[in-house]
Amino acid sequence: MTAAPAAVTLSQNPLLESVKVGHWQLAHRIVYAPLTRQRAIDNVPQPAAATYYAQRATKGGLMISEATVVSAEGRGYAHTPGIWSKEQVEAWKPIIKAVHDKGAVFLCQLWHTGRASHPAFQEGGKDPVAPSAIAIPDAKVFLPDGSQAPYTKPRALDISEIPARVDAFRQGARNALDAGFDGVEIHSANGYLLDNFLKASCNQRTDKYGGTIENRARFTLEVVDAVVKEVGDSQKVGIRFSPFYVLGAEDPHKNAVFTYVVEELNSRNLAYVHMIEPRKRGSEKEGSPSALFDYTQRDQNLSIFRIAYTGTFMVAGGHDRESGIQSLKTDRADLIVYGRHFLANPDFVKRIELNAPLNQYDRTTFYSQDQEKGYTDYPYLEE
Ligand SMILES: Cc1cc2nc3c(=O)[nH]c(=O)nc-3n(C[C@H](O)[C@H](O)[C@H](O)COP(=O)(O)O)c2cc1C
Repeated sequence: MTAAPAAVTLSQNPLLESVKVGHWQLAHRIVYAPLTRQRAIDNVPQPAAATYYAQRATKGGLMISEATVVSAEGRGYAHTPGIWSKEQVEAWKPIIKAVHDKGAVFLCQLWHTGRASHPAFQEGGKDPVAPSAIAIPDAKVFLPDGSQAPYTKPRALDISEIPARVDAFRQGARNALDAGFDGVEIHSANGYLLDNFLKASCNQRTDKYGGTIENRARFTLEVVDAVVKEVGDSQKVGIRFSPFYVLGAEDPHKNAVFTYVVEELNSRNLAYVHMIEPRKRGSEKEGSPSALFDYTQRDQNLSIFRIAYTGTFMVAGGHDRESGIQSLKTDRADLIVYGRHFLANPDFVKRIELNAPLNQYDRTTFYSQDQEKGYTDYPYLEE
């Protein structure tokens, strides 16, 4: 008697396999990246965001909101949403409901831009705050009126002012839950406040928040602990890091810094750690210190952190279908986070399933106040 061929029970595509992430049993491993769209007029989310997010929501999918500012001081870009006022919390509610109606899990990315701001965004025209008074070199900031200017020198936070910044994240988490989000992602990446503390190029403090790796990691870990306590469940809290160069934030010992941080997080039992790969290609000048990214780091990867971290590990940055599948197959990550492709393809998950061609993303509409163009009008496959 010949044995019947083994039934193919598992999907051939690991991106479509179920996975438990923190509190949630997800249906697939394709995550919607946090993507700033600058459509939240005067920092208040608009109704079109409900359509936009719901278009990209799938049953059992994980979505991370665009970076959402925890305090007025945390702003550094025009028309990005906040979560510090009652009006903002109320405005988020129908957006979250629209995502939940599609069966997705929706986390709020909590944000403070730190030195990546400008007096034009600050109440009373004050200087933005940072660990040290070091301006972002060379790069330019977009001001509220759309013009560009060099980044200015931030004001170094006094040690007595640090607890209030930690508390702003705690309050942001509370407000996010009150709005209906399922949990939060702490934004500790991309040259903003938490990343400013972590990396030597922007932290020259001599108190317990600067100097050694342990000291530079203190602020981020205090934010994690405060947020977890407020949320009441570490499995509803994730965190995002960018070990590589971005917006002048870099560290000559980044492997040691981020290995230390993820090892500290091992015992904190978070939902996940989310990391951004080195930038592989782009329009900026290769290796230029004035670039947003440093393309000379393209051959490096996140393996050392993947190995050091014992929990769920998500990666973002330049992935397509094939590289996502390969990263899962070679155990470089548990989930793949997609930004630009997912932004331009509301039915991205279906296209991954069918291996269908993708709409091209339109950079010129990434950041705009238009509530439709480049936002809710990307076509579906059927069209
Ligand atoms: C339009 C745009 C907005 C972004 N906004 C955010 C953001 O709000 N928070 C964040 O952590 N990263 C942000 N990023 C980075 C993305 O989350 C992601 O890491 C990056 O786009 C690389 O992934 P991709 O190659 O799949 O697009 C943004 C990127 C783009 C293109």
